[in-house]
Amino acid sequence: MTSYPKTAALMQRGREFLGCEHAILCGAMSWVSERNLVSAISNAGGFGVIACGAMTPELLDTEIAETRARTDKPFGVNLITMHPQLFDLIAVCSKHGVSHVVLAGGIPPKGSVEAIKEFGAKVIVFAPTLALAKKLLRSGGDALVIEGMEAGGHIGPVSTSVLAQEFLPALADDHVVFVAGGIGRGEAIASYLEMGASGVQLGTRFACASESIAHPDFKKAFFRAIARDAEASVQVDPRLPVIPVRALKNKGTEEFTAKQIEVAGKLDREEVDMGEAQLQIEHFWAGALRRAVIDGDVENGSLMAGQSVGMVTQEEPVADIMAALMSESEAALTGR
Ligand SMILES: Cc1cc2nc3c(=O)[nH]c(=O)nc-3n(C[C@H](O)[C@H](O)[C@H](O)COP(=O)(O)O)c2cc1C
Repeated sequence: MTSYPKTAALMQRGREFLGCEHAILCGAMSWVSERNLVSAISNAGGFGVIACGAMTPELLDTEIAETRARTDKPFGVNLITMHPQLFDLIAVCSKHGVSHVVLAGGIPPKGSVEAIKEFGAKVIVFAPTLALAKKLLRSGGDALVIEGMEAGGHIGPVSTSVLAQEFLPALADDHVVFVAGGIGRGEAIASYLEMGASGVQLGTRFACASESIAHPDFKKAFFRAIARDAEASVQVDPRLPVIPVRALKNKGTEEFTAKQIEVAGKLDREEVDMGEAQLQIEHFWAGALRRAVIDGDVENGSLMAGQSVGMVTQEEPVADIMAALMSESEAALTGR
């Protein structure tokens, strides 16, 4: 018997799809979503997702085994579609009988969805537009995450509330859709569930849980920050593309702007060609998330965080965060 009957009822489809008690995914966060946090989320009744990021197949193999050693509950693996060894990573997931694979970072390459379904796993996809969402769901995607620009990490240009209004009425009757981006409390979860979502995905709210291995200084930066500190990176020059990333502003974000101006100047003076210029911009943040999360370099590293960071004020066990979210949602629904 659940303590959250109204929320559980609205989450029913998501819970069945994920095979867990609460249809709350902890979105994969590179360096943060490893064995400890992922197993803690799943053990607390949510759905943890390993962030494969740039891991080699060997490292992913170990990470899945170590996660499984810490939980007997289901969890997923997030693979970045442009990883050069994507198909080897899929093979590692197959070897371990991973139940859910999340494909992130772009349109899944030919054959990848099929390769995942072949070993019986469910495929969760992201889509920035409704047309693409419909196409991916038609071509094998089993569930969809819609993620608004309030989120931490790489973002699109549209807010969660607008995506939810556009996608949910069109898709939620027939498909499992999870809403992500800017969710910090259960009242918001209740609203998206009422709009037809099968569940939600949060990242920022879980990043500094007690079980997260993130460096204490990374966590402190989160506890101090308010919503407006989590800024999207800005592209300075139309010739030098920047994929927006939402992160806490620091010395690194200021230097990134300066770097773009510097490189644009070199281009104007023909000191570098376009390829070299774009490479210099692309390489600026290489390794920066690791520097912040693992080394605790909060000045020069990338402090990826969503706008809900203002609601992250202290280190709490995952089980407490999960219970707070579910209670807030339940209270909101009960008070309707
Ligand atoms: C520190 C950090 C790292 C992230 N890394 C990834 C990643 O490697 N792959 C991915 O698909 N999403 C990544 N995300 C996005 C999360 O999976 C999740 O969708 C997002 O945090 C949800 O929005 P919220 O931050 O507003 O809760 C990251 C987010 C954060 C905060």
